[in-house]
Amino acid sequence: MNKFFPISQPTITELEIKYVNDAITSGWVSSLGYYIEELEKEFAKFCGVKYTVLTNNGTTGLHLALEALGIKKDDEIIIPDLTFIATANAVSYIGAKPIMVDIDANTLCIDASKIEAAITNKTRAIIPVHLYGHPANMDEINTIAKKNNLFVIEDAAEAHGAKYKDKIVGGLSDCGVFSFYGNKIITTGEGGAITTNNVEIYEKAKFLRDHAMSKTKRYWHTEVGYNYRMTNLQAALGLAQLNRIDEIIDSRVSIFNWYKKYIKTNESVRLNYTAPWAKSVNWLVCLEVDNLNFELRETLMKNLKEQGIDSRPYFYPVSAMPMYNRKFQNDVSYNKSIIGINIPTFFGLQEQDIQTISEIINNEIINL
Ligand SMILES: Cc1ncc(COP(=O)(O)O)c(C=O)c1O
Repeated sequence: MNKFFPISQPTITELEIKYVNDAITSGWVSSLGYYIEELEKEFAKFCGVKYTVLTNNGTTGLHLALEALGIKKDDEIIIPDLTFIATANAVSYIGAKPIMVDIDANTLCIDASKIEAAITNKTRAIIPVHLYGHPANMDEINTIAKKNNLFVIEDAAEAHGAKYKDKIVGGLSDCGVFSFYGNKIITTGEGGAITTNNVEIYEKAKFLRDHAMSKTKRYWHTEVGYNYRMTNLQAALGLAQLNRIDEIIDSRVSIFNWYKKYIKTNESVRLNYTAPWAKSVNWLVCLEVDNLNFELRETLMKNLKEQGIDSRPYFYPVSAMPMYNRKFQNDVSYNKSIIGINIPTFFGLQEQDIQTISEIINNEIINL
């Protein structure tokens, strides 16, 4: 049996262990403590924004961001059809409606040229998703938002450190939302963050994160808030990860370059595209094979697994899910979702590993 290559795994070093040890021995195990404050400060600096609000995961971060912007029941929020379900679910928690717009066939992010057709007098915001680590086309999205008086929330859950035209994501709109789940670029186990330059969004998100408790009168609550707080233990892990983020991203860039070297691509077998204006952080390397259908892809993934290579299918379109089926005509999303898989991408994979993985993938694609 070959060595097994998971799709992703976290990188934990002595530094992470040291910080978590320090947090636990300090006794500050809940949501107050040095590491919470430090990670909020340092993550804001990293994203080039004034403020960060840490949350207990990315989904609650999205929910809190929508609440902080004043999104209400029956408002319409534009999202890409191809994304992780959390983008849509956070909108639904408010009673607002996610409106799915098709994706761009190259970047796999929302197709900005199709946004205006989806805007109605109920539309309040756009949530572009920086999918698989590649930034969405933010200038075009921001221009449309400005013209139509809409908020923009970047779903940057998969894209810590990615750049749009040399500007880091998370600070390119009203606010950004990140996930620190175990398979993300950096992790806190479970966790999330809202990044913003807007003091009102910051204050409101912080207030709602802690049950909307009055700042001046403890245990007095003026509205229904949430407990969406991260713990100091998680933040300790996150700070160590953030200290190492440059080497983590560099490793992912090398991995993508090695895949480009060893995977045999042609017109119908492609690795993910990177726009000339983008720096992708390659959260997960994407492989598309044009003649795949559901059954063939299941066979491909099963055959790879038998040879020690984990993979996962692209997300399904949100509008295809039973609770969101509103018959959107998003052909690119539907087509892409069935022909793509993600292949092992995590810190520490070496060139020899990628060569081994690629040879097995090349062989399976020829035999499809
Ligand atoms: C695009 C996207 N949005 C939101 C989330 C939600 O993050 P979390 O899993 O931390 O709740 C994720 C992550 O899993 C994601 O990939």
